[in-house]
Amino acid sequence: MGSDGHGSKMDGSKRDMHVPFLDLQAQYRSIREDIDSAIAEVIRTSRFIIGSEETKFERLFADSLRIPYAVGCSCGTSAIYIALMALCMPQEAEVIVPAMTYIATAEAVSLAGARPIFVDVEADTGLIDFEAMTRAVTSKTWGVIPVHLYGQMVDMPRFAAFAEEKGLRLLEDAAQAHAAEYRGQRPGSLSDAAAFSFFPGKNLGAYGDAGAIVTRDRRMAEWVRQYRNHGRLDKYKHEFVGFNFRLDGLQAAVLQAKLPHLERWTERRRAVAARYRTAFGRAGIRCLVERPQARHVYHLFVIRHPERDRLRKALADTGIECGIHYPIPLHLQPAYKSCGQQPGSLPESEALAREVLSLPIDPELSDAQVEYVIQQVCAHA
Ligand SMILES: Cc1ncc(COP(=O)(O)O)c(C=O)c1O
Repeated sequence: MGSDGHGSKMDGSKRDMHVPFLDLQAQYRSIREDIDSAIAEVIRTSRFIIGSEETKFERLFADSLRIPYAVGCSCGTSAIYIALMALCMPQEAEVIVPAMTYIATAEAVSLAGARPIFVDVEADTGLIDFEAMTRAVTSKTWGVIPVHLYGQMVDMPRFAAFAEEKGLRLLEDAAQAHAAEYRGQRPGSLSDAAAFSFFPGKNLGAYGDAGAIVTRDRRMAEWVRQYRNHGRLDKYKHEFVGFNFRLDGLQAAVLQAKLPHLERWTERRRAVAARYRTAFGRAGIRCLVERPQARHVYHLFVIRHPERDRLRKALADTGIECGIHYPIPLHLQPAYKSCGQQPGSLPESEALAREVLSLPIDPELSDAQVEYVIQQVCAHA
């Protein structure tokens, strides 16, 4: 499972090892030649905007998902927004989103002029609660955005069947779910579209902001391609009012260089997760659940602990960096005061926000670092 001893500082101090939450420099060192030559080629050709790198990446990314179309854009947030615009979301519509997600899921809905309706999530996975979603449907509901939180896909066949029956639009927030599967199908297979983020810390990350919209619908892909580039057909002919939401050539080149490594990184994440599960299961530490039908890609490995803040501090003191995703559910964010939901209204999301702790699961972690995390979590939990 990789080399041992990396990050070791056996000098007798309390912190005898440092375990970063994310080590993008280590990743860069492992694929430096690919990255450097990809970047050098973009600079050499000066194809910085809408060049062949972008088109090539779009093709490779779509193929990796077994989906006909992928269109690159400026970030994951704009990917969700663009998809909503492409689907002609009416102003004032209601769109159901989980309360436990990054704010971007809801922000895109608000920016596009509709109203996010926050629903609760499952206690054991953190994923949007299907039953809660069905109860939130009203005559104004236009669509649903399930989030494949932490790298695990929701039960897409079930959501797709419901959306079809009710005439709702279904847009997947796949920002954390590169290479994830549910019953062998990847994001975009059963919905109107799926939105990806290539934020640097994502499982497939650029060296800046980047995102993509994937879809099975050719007309939608064509419209999105035009919209993200000022609605233009050719250089100075603009068929409709779009915007600049383009993916730039340097990011596309970096993503192209990284994509062939995604499977290996995903397998390493899954192997570390399996090791954590075995050890924490024995120690009675509560991990979020991996569904048997899902290929969880562990963008984050999340445990629940009633004294999460104490545990996080104890781990920080031993050199282990952790994260919290997310400390405030969206219905309680100051930005969404207008939704009118009070504390206690979405109890599972609120309990998760108090208890979740994301442990390091970077594919570059050494076996020794993984064992150290296990040892320290078990000692302090
Ligand atoms: C679930 C989720 N949705 C959307 C986004 C937005 O992506 P970006 O930061 O690329 O705009 C992120 C990433 O931060 C995310 O984690």
